[in-house]
Amino acid sequence: MDNKEIVVSGIRSTGNLHLGNYFGALRNFVKMQNDYDCRFFIADLHALTTNPDPKELHTSVKSIVTEYLAAGIDPEKATIFVQSDVPEVSELYLLLNMHVGIGELMRTASFKDKARKALGIKADADNDDNIENEIIGADSNKRVNAGLLTYPTLMAVDILIQKAHKVPVGKDQEQHLELTRRFARRFNSFYNTDLFPEPENYNFGKAAVKIPGLDGSGKMGKSEGNCLYLIDEDKVLRKKVMRAVTDEGPKEPNSPVSQPVQNLFSLMELTSAPETVQQFKDAYSDCSIRYGDLKKQLAEDILNITRPIRERIMELRDNDEYIGKVLRQGAERARYYASQTLKEAREVMGIRKFY
Ligand code: ADP
Ligand code: TRP
Repeated sequence: MDNKEIVVSGIRSTGNLHLGNYFGALRNFVKMQNDYDCRFFIADLHALTTNPDPKELHTSVKSIVTEYLAAGIDPEKATIFVQSDVPEVSELYLLLNMHVGIGELMRTASFKDKARKALGIKADADNDDNIENEIIGADSNKRVNAGLLTYPTLMAVDILIQKAHKVPVGKDQEQHLELTRRFARRFNSFYNTDLFPEPENYNFGKAAVKIPGLDGSGKMGKSEGNCLYLIDEDKVLRKKVMRAVTDEGPKEPNSPVSQPVQNLFSLMELTSAPETVQQFKDAYSDCSIRYGDLKKQLAEDILNITRPIRERIMELRDNDEYIGKVLRQGAERARYYASQTLKEAREVMGIRKFY
């Protein structure tokens, strides 16, 4: 593994994995494991930022590791671990925070979103400028916790502690990666070191993806409640796809495509054969399209991808012994690298023993 470039990525343990996670991240994890020194983890500390029920957090860690394995991550090729099994991450998080500005964290889009949610404020341009005042003025019941604010520091540490070069994530994570690069540069230049490489997002030369929901809205996401899950049974998944929002259909040839219908086409481009996509696009252009047919086809093509993964999940999920072995071995490897980096960081920052 020695001279391969290092790849790091993680997914928060907040439920089961959905198609957004699959196409935005997991599929690339599987493709990258042959060519890179890959270290994939379950971000349970990040999940804590939204105060999950302890039982659900625990269950989700196990689900996600099972889903990683079922999707084809091979523990012989890649390191798979749980974030909290590497305590070095928490220490470097404290150290790196000394070089991170509260202002830059407060300006992060994902922080503003989550702060709004915590305070029960709707997103609109008018209250955007005021969010800082709302946060400072919030009473202790509606507080925005400090972990949410420093989420990007923790994510940067996950990446920098492994000295990763490439980070396969979806489009929604690009701002966090930009911050990671900035923190790495700042640390390196402050201490006049080259400890941390600057990592980049990676999607096989293509732009990062954003998988839409089928409710006509923006992205597919757990908190949006619009997910097609890898573990969805055939019946459940078909039903969800058949209920997807569409429109009244094109009235004239070559009409522009509305967002909800474009979302269906986007999913189809990822899951169906190119001829199938073209056939439905042509049918849209000449107004002969029937959305019911398109949805039926889409559901089957999605199931062709998710069904084998679901079957593997069922096979693996009670195999605690195997999963435990994978995670213990992964934690050991991840800690080996993390402890070296932490030692170097402490050293350059002046935390040295003379006693
Ligand atoms: P969620 O947004 O559902 O809570 P996470 O934030 O844990 O999921 O995301 C884990 C990974 O999956 C990240 O790399 C993220 O970019 C990717 N991801 C999540 N949702 C999508 C989506 N709709 N499109 C593309 N990538 C996504
Ligand atoms: N922030 C990522 C998300 O919400 C999860 C994550 C945490 C991550 N640490 C990471 C992704 C390090 C890549 C690398 O999806």
